[in-house]
Amino acid sequence: MSAAPAVPNSQNPRKIEFYDLDATALTEPGRKLLREYSGIPEAEINSHVEAMRIKAFQVCPYPCIGMFQFLDLSLMSTPVYEEVLARIKKGDKFLDLGCCLGQEIRQLVADGAPSANTYGSDLYGGLIDVGYDLFKDRDRLQTTFIAADVFDDKSPLVALAGQVDIIYTGAFFHLFGIEEQEKVAARVVQLLAPKPGSMVIGRQSGHEEAGEFGRAGDKSGRKHFRHNPQSWKALWDRVGERTGSKWSVEADLKMREYTLAELEGKSEAIRRKMTGMGLRFVVRRL
Ligand SMILES: C[S@@+](CC[C@H](N)C(=O)[O-])C[C@H]1O[C@@H](n2cnc3c(N)ncnc32)[C@H](O)[C@@H]1O
Repeated sequence: MSAAPAVPNSQNPRKIEFYDLDATALTEPGRKLLREYSGIPEAEINSHVEAMRIKAFQVCPYPCIGMFQFLDLSLMSTPVYEEVLARIKKGDKFLDLGCCLGQEIRQLVADGAPSANTYGSDLYGGLIDVGYDLFKDRDRLQTTFIAADVFDDKSPLVALAGQVDIIYTGAFFHLFGIEEQEKVAARVVQLLAPKPGSMVIGRQSGHEEAGEFGRAGDKSGRKHFRHNPQSWKALWDRVGERTGSKWSVEADLKMREYTLAELEGKSEAIRRKMTGMGLRFVVRRL
Protein backbone atom coordinates (compact mmCIF):
# COMPACT_ATOMS: atom_id res chain seq x y z
CA MET A 1 0.00 0.00 0.00
CA SER A 2 1.29 3.51 -0.77
CA ALA A 3 2.04 5.85 2.15
CA ALA A 4 -1.13 7.42 3.56
CA PRO A 5 -1.52 10.99 2.29
CA ALA A 6 -1.58 13.89 4.72
CA VAL A 7 -5.10 14.71 5.84
CA PRO A 8 -6.04 18.30 4.94
CA ASN A 9 -6.99 20.60 7.77
CA SER A 10 -10.69 20.25 8.43
CA GLN A 11 -10.94 21.47 12.01
CA ASN A 12 -14.09 23.42 11.33
CA PRO A 13 -15.84 21.98 8.30
CA ARG A 14 -18.85 24.26 8.80
CA LYS A 15 -16.75 27.22 7.70
CA ILE A 16 -16.65 25.72 4.22
CA GLU A 17 -19.14 27.19 1.81
CA PHE A 18 -20.21 23.81 0.43
CA TYR A 19 -21.44 22.79 3.86
CA ASP A 20 -24.47 25.04 3.59
CA LEU A 21 -26.93 22.18 3.09
CA ASP A 22 -28.64 19.83 5.49
CA ALA A 23 -29.68 16.26 4.90
CA THR A 24 -33.23 17.27 3.93
CA ALA A 25 -31.64 17.95 0.51
CA LEU A 26 -31.14 14.23 -0.02
CA THR A 27 -33.25 12.77 -2.79
CA GLU A 28 -35.18 9.50 -2.81
CA PRO A 29 -32.69 7.14 -4.47
CA GLY A 30 -30.10 7.71 -1.72
CA ARG A 31 -32.75 7.50 1.01
CA LYS A 32 -34.16 4.29 -0.46
CA LEU A 33 -30.70 2.73 -0.51
CA LEU A 34 -30.20 3.57 3.17
CA ARG A 35 -33.67 2.28 4.10
CA GLU A 36 -33.68 -0.91 2.10
CA TYR A 37 -30.00 -1.89 1.82
CA SER A 38 -28.70 -0.52 5.12
CA GLY A 39 -31.90 -1.01 7.16
CA ILE A 40 -31.95 2.55 8.52
CA PRO A 41 -35.45 3.79 9.41
CA GLU A 42 -36.50 6.91 7.47
CA ALA A 43 -36.76 8.93 10.71
CA GLU A 44 -33.07 8.29 11.44
CA ILE A 45 -31.67 8.93 7.98
CA ASN A 46 -31.04 12.68 8.22
CA SER A 47 -29.15 12.51 11.51
CA HIS A 48 -27.19 9.41 10.43
CA VAL A 49 -26.14 11.00 7.15
CA GLU A 50 -25.14 14.27 8.79
CA ALA A 51 -22.99 12.40 11.31
CA MET A 52 -21.31 10.49 8.46
CA ARG A 53 -20.71 13.72 6.55
CA ILE A 54 -18.80 15.15 9.52
CA LYS A 55 -16.68 11.98 9.74
CA ALA A 56 -15.94 11.98 6.01
CA PHE A 57 -15.20 15.70 5.95
CA GLN A 58 -12.64 15.16 8.69
CA VAL A 59 -10.83 12.72 6.41
CA CYS A 60 -10.90 15.11 3.46
CA PRO A 61 -13.06 18.23 3.01
CA TYR A 62 -14.13 17.71 -0.59
CA PRO A 63 -16.98 19.98 -1.75
CA CYS A 64 -18.80 16.83 -2.93
CA ILE A 65 -18.81 15.53 0.65
CA GLY A 66 -20.19 18.83 1.96
CA MET A 67 -22.95 18.57 -0.64
CA PHE A 68 -23.86 14.92 0.14
CA GLN A 69 -22.74 13.74 -3.28
CA PHE A 70 -21.86 10.48 -1.53
CA LEU A 71 -25.57 9.66 -1.79
CA ASP A 72 -26.10 11.07 -5.26
CA LEU A 73 -26.42 7.92 -7.36
CA SER A 74 -25.42 8.39 -10.97
CA LEU A 75 -24.68 4.98 -12.50
CA MET A 76 -28.26 3.72 -12.12
CA SER A 77 -29.52 6.59 -14.28
CA THR A 78 -27.25 5.75 -17.23
CA PRO A 79 -28.50 3.83 -20.27
CA VAL A 80 -25.93 1.08 -19.61
CA TYR A 81 -26.97 0.29 -16.01
CA GLU A 82 -28.85 -2.90 -16.84
CA GLU A 83 -25.94 -4.09 -19.02
CA VAL A 84 -23.46 -3.36 -16.22
CA LEU A 85 -25.59 -5.17 -13.65
CA ALA A 86 -26.08 -8.21 -15.90
CA ARG A 87 -22.36 -8.40 -16.66
CA ILE A 88 -21.34 -8.26 -12.98
CA LYS A 89 -23.91 -10.96 -12.19
CA LYS A 90 -22.27 -13.14 -14.88
CA GLY A 91 -18.81 -12.64 -13.38
CA ASP A 92 -17.43 -9.42 -14.83
CA LYS A 93 -15.23 -7.45 -12.46
CA PHE A 94 -16.39 -3.91 -11.69
CA LEU A 95 -14.17 -1.18 -10.23
CA ASP A 96 -15.29 2.22 -8.92
CA LEU A 97 -12.17 4.38 -9.34
CA GLY A 98 -12.13 7.28 -6.85
CA CYS A 99 -15.04 5.63 -5.04
CA CYS A 100 -15.07 7.89 -1.95
CA LEU A 101 -17.71 6.27 0.34
CA GLY A 102 -18.69 3.74 -2.34
CA GLN A 103 -22.36 4.53 -2.98
CA GLU A 104 -22.40 3.23 -6.55
CA ILE A 105 -21.11 -0.18 -5.45
CA ARG A 106 -23.79 -0.38 -2.74
CA GLN A 107 -26.54 0.38 -5.27
CA LEU A 108 -25.27 -2.38 -7.58
CA VAL A 109 -25.15 -4.82 -4.69
CA ALA A 110 -28.65 -3.78 -3.56
CA ASP A 111 -29.78 -4.55 -7.12
CA GLY A 112 -28.33 -8.05 -7.02
CA ALA A 113 -24.69 -7.71 -8.13
CA PRO A 114 -22.47 -10.18 -6.24
CA SER A 115 -20.28 -7.94 -4.11
CA ALA A 116 -17.30 -10.30 -4.50
CA ASN A 117 -17.10 -9.14 -8.13
CA THR A 118 -16.81 -5.49 -7.12
CA TYR A 119 -13.79 -3.33 -6.31
CA GLY A 120 -13.48 0.20 -5.03
CA SER A 121 -10.36 2.32 -4.91
CA ASP A 122 -9.65 5.69 -3.35
CA LEU A 123 -6.69 7.72 -2.18
CA TYR A 124 -8.10 7.84 1.35
CA GLY A 125 -8.66 4.56 3.18
CA GLY A 126 -10.45 6.68 5.79
CA LEU A 127 -13.25 7.45 3.32
CA ILE A 128 -13.67 3.75 2.53
CA ASP A 129 -13.99 3.19 6.26
CA VAL A 130 -16.69 5.84 6.65
CA GLY A 131 -18.50 4.10 3.75
CA TYR A 132 -18.88 0.94 5.86
CA ASP A 133 -20.34 3.03 8.69
CA LEU A 134 -22.66 4.95 6.36
CA PHE A 135 -24.07 1.81 4.76
CA LYS A 136 -23.78 -0.47 7.82
CA ASP A 137 -22.40 -3.39 5.82
CA ARG A 138 -18.93 -4.03 7.18
CA ASP A 139 -19.87 -7.59 8.14
CA ARG A 140 -21.50 -8.59 4.83
CA LEU A 141 -20.01 -6.65 1.90
CA GLN A 142 -17.38 -8.66 0.02
CA THR A 143 -16.14 -5.78 -2.14
CA THR A 144 -12.35 -5.48 -2.34
CA PHE A 145 -11.45 -1.92 -1.38
CA ILE A 146 -7.99 -0.66 -2.23
CA ALA A 147 -6.52 2.53 -0.76
CA ALA A 148 -4.18 3.74 -3.51
CA ASP A 149 -2.99 6.79 -5.39
CA VAL A 150 -4.05 6.34 -9.02
CA PHE A 151 -0.71 7.84 -10.12
CA ASP A 152 1.40 5.37 -8.13
CA ASP A 153 2.81 2.72 -10.48
CA LYS A 154 3.59 0.43 -7.56
CA SER A 155 0.29 0.64 -5.68
CA PRO A 156 -1.87 -2.43 -4.92
CA LEU A 157 -4.35 -1.12 -7.50
CA VAL A 158 -1.88 -1.97 -10.25
CA ALA A 159 -2.06 -5.62 -9.19
CA LEU A 160 -5.49 -5.62 -10.93
CA ALA A 161 -3.88 -4.79 -14.28
CA GLY A 162 -5.70 -6.44 -17.18
CA GLN A 163 -8.38 -7.97 -14.94
CA VAL A 164 -11.15 -5.39 -14.65
CA ASP A 165 -14.05 -5.47 -17.13
CA ILE A 166 -15.95 -2.33 -16.18
CA ILE A 167 -14.71 0.84 -14.51
CA TYR A 168 -16.98 3.55 -13.15
CA THR A 169 -15.44 6.89 -12.29
CA GLY A 170 -17.48 9.81 -10.94
CA ALA A 171 -16.27 13.37 -10.32
CA PHE A 172 -12.72 12.09 -10.68
CA PHE A 173 -10.95 13.06 -13.92
CA HIS A 174 -12.00 16.67 -13.42
CA LEU A 175 -9.81 16.87 -10.32
CA PHE A 176 -6.76 16.93 -12.57
CA GLY A 177 -5.08 18.90 -15.35
CA ILE A 178 -5.06 17.50 -18.88
CA GLU A 179 -1.66 15.80 -18.60
CA GLU A 180 -2.61 14.09 -15.36
CA GLN A 181 -5.94 13.08 -16.91
CA GLU A 182 -4.05 11.31 -19.68
CA LYS A 183 -2.11 9.42 -17.03
CA VAL A 184 -5.36 8.44 -15.31
CA ALA A 185 -6.81 7.30 -18.64
CA ALA A 186 -3.65 5.26 -19.29
CA ARG A 187 -4.11 3.66 -15.86
CA VAL A 188 -7.71 2.83 -16.80
CA VAL A 189 -6.45 1.19 -20.00
CA GLN A 190 -3.89 -0.76 -17.98
CA LEU A 191 -6.49 -1.99 -15.46
CA LEU A 192 -9.10 -3.03 -18.01
CA ALA A 193 -9.01 -6.46 -19.62
CA PRO A 194 -7.35 -6.04 -23.03
CA LYS A 195 -10.38 -7.16 -25.03
CA PRO A 196 -13.29 -5.60 -26.89
CA GLY A 197 -16.17 -4.65 -24.62
CA SER A 198 -14.09 -3.52 -21.64
CA MET A 199 -15.59 -0.21 -20.68
CA VAL A 200 -15.37 2.92 -18.59
CA ILE A 201 -18.46 4.85 -17.58
CA GLY A 202 -18.70 8.06 -15.68
CA ARG A 203 -19.61 11.61 -15.04
CA GLN A 204 -17.69 14.73 -14.16
CA SER A 205 -17.78 18.49 -14.49
CA GLY A 206 -18.00 19.52 -18.13
CA HIS A 207 -18.36 22.64 -20.18
CA GLU A 208 -19.23 23.51 -23.77
CA GLU A 209 -15.85 25.20 -24.03
CA ALA A 210 -13.21 22.70 -22.99
CA GLY A 211 -10.35 24.09 -20.96
CA GLU A 212 -8.65 24.63 -17.65
CA PHE A 213 -10.65 26.04 -14.79
CA GLY A 214 -10.26 26.74 -11.09
CA ARG A 215 -12.32 24.53 -8.83
CA ALA A 216 -14.43 26.50 -6.39
CA GLY A 217 -13.08 26.13 -2.88
CA ASP A 218 -9.70 24.84 -4.08
CA LYS A 219 -6.99 27.23 -2.95
CA SER A 220 -4.13 24.98 -4.09
CA GLY A 221 -3.65 26.72 -7.43
CA ARG A 222 -3.77 23.33 -9.18
CA LYS A 223 -4.98 23.16 -12.75
CA HIS A 224 -8.16 21.26 -13.53
CA PHE A 225 -9.44 20.48 -17.00
CA ARG A 226 -13.11 20.40 -17.95
CA HIS A 227 -14.10 18.62 -21.18
CA ASN A 228 -16.76 18.90 -23.80
CA PRO A 229 -17.62 15.71 -25.73
CA GLN A 230 -15.10 16.50 -28.51
CA SER A 231 -12.14 17.10 -26.20
CA TRP A 232 -13.03 13.99 -24.19
CA LYS A 233 -13.04 11.91 -27.37
CA ALA A 234 -9.72 13.46 -28.41
CA LEU A 235 -8.20 12.45 -25.06
CA TRP A 236 -9.20 8.81 -25.66
CA ASP A 237 -7.80 8.97 -29.19
CA ARG A 238 -4.45 10.17 -27.83
CA VAL A 239 -4.41 7.62 -25.02
CA GLY A 240 -5.39 4.90 -27.47
CA GLU A 241 -2.46 5.80 -29.66
CA ARG A 242 -0.12 5.85 -26.70
CA THR A 243 -1.29 2.47 -25.41
CA GLY A 244 -1.93 0.71 -28.73
CA SER A 245 -5.67 0.43 -28.13
CA LYS A 246 -8.85 1.79 -29.75
CA TRP A 247 -11.88 3.25 -27.99
CA SER A 248 -15.37 4.28 -28.97
CA VAL A 249 -16.60 7.28 -27.01
CA GLU A 250 -20.17 8.34 -26.31
CA ALA A 251 -20.36 11.56 -24.32
CA ASP A 252 -22.83 14.35 -23.75
CA LEU A 253 -23.41 17.46 -21.70
CA LYS A 254 -27.16 17.11 -21.40
CA MET A 255 -27.55 16.66 -17.66
CA ARG A 256 -26.66 18.62 -14.56
CA GLU A 257 -23.59 17.28 -12.83
CA TYR A 258 -25.41 16.86 -9.52
CA THR A 259 -28.95 15.66 -9.02
CA LEU A 260 -29.56 16.84 -5.47
CA ALA A 261 -32.37 19.28 -5.81
CA GLU A 262 -32.86 21.71 -2.95
CA LEU A 263 -31.25 24.99 -4.04
CA GLU A 264 -33.56 27.58 -2.53
CA GLY A 265 -31.70 30.02 -0.29
CA LYS A 266 -28.37 28.25 -0.81
CA SER A 267 -25.00 29.90 -1.22
CA GLU A 268 -23.86 31.09 -4.62
CA ALA A 269 -21.10 28.44 -4.59
CA ILE A 270 -23.61 25.63 -4.11
CA ARG A 271 -26.03 26.98 -6.69
CA ARG A 272 -23.21 27.33 -9.23
CA LYS A 273 -21.91 23.85 -8.53
CA MET A 274 -25.28 22.16 -8.59
CA THR A 275 -26.54 23.79 -11.72
CA GLY A 276 -23.31 23.17 -13.67
CA MET A 277 -23.53 20.72 -16.55
CA GLY A 278 -21.99 17.31 -16.25
CA LEU A 279 -20.12 15.34 -18.89
CA ARG A 280 -21.55 11.81 -18.95
CA PHE A 281 -19.71 9.17 -20.90
CA VAL A 282 -19.42 5.56 -21.93
CA VAL A 283 -16.07 4.57 -23.42
CA ARG A 284 -15.71 1.06 -24.85
CA ARG A 285 -12.67 -0.81 -26.04
CA LEU A 286 -13.00 -1.83 -29.67
C1 LIG B 1 -14.92 14.46 -5.87
S1 LIG B 1 -14.75 12.89 -5.13
C2 LIG B 1 -15.89 11.88 -6.06
C3 LIG B 1 -16.32 10.68 -5.30
C4 LIG B 1 -17.27 9.70 -6.01
N1 LIG B 1 -16.64 9.07 -7.14
C5 LIG B 1 -18.56 10.36 -6.42
O1 LIG B 1 -18.84 10.49 -7.60
O2 LIG B 1 -19.32 10.74 -5.51
C6 LIG B 1 -13.18 12.38 -5.77
C7 LIG B 1 -12.60 11.17 -5.08
O3 LIG B 1 -11.35 10.88 -5.70
C8 LIG B 1 -10.39 10.55 -4.71
N2 LIG B 1 -9.04 10.88 -5.20
C9 LIG B 1 -8.50 12.11 -5.37
N3 LIG B 1 -7.24 12.01 -5.83
C10 LIG B 1 -6.98 10.70 -5.98
C11 LIG B 1 -5.84 9.96 -6.41
N4 LIG B 1 -4.72 10.56 -6.78
N5 LIG B 1 -5.94 8.61 -6.44
C12 LIG B 1 -7.08 7.98 -6.05
N6 LIG B 1 -8.18 8.63 -5.62
C13 LIG B 1 -8.14 9.97 -5.57
C14 LIG B 1 -10.80 11.39 -3.52
O4 LIG B 1 -10.29 10.93 -2.30
C15 LIG B 1 -12.33 11.39 -3.61
O5 LIG B 1 -12.89 10.37 -2.85
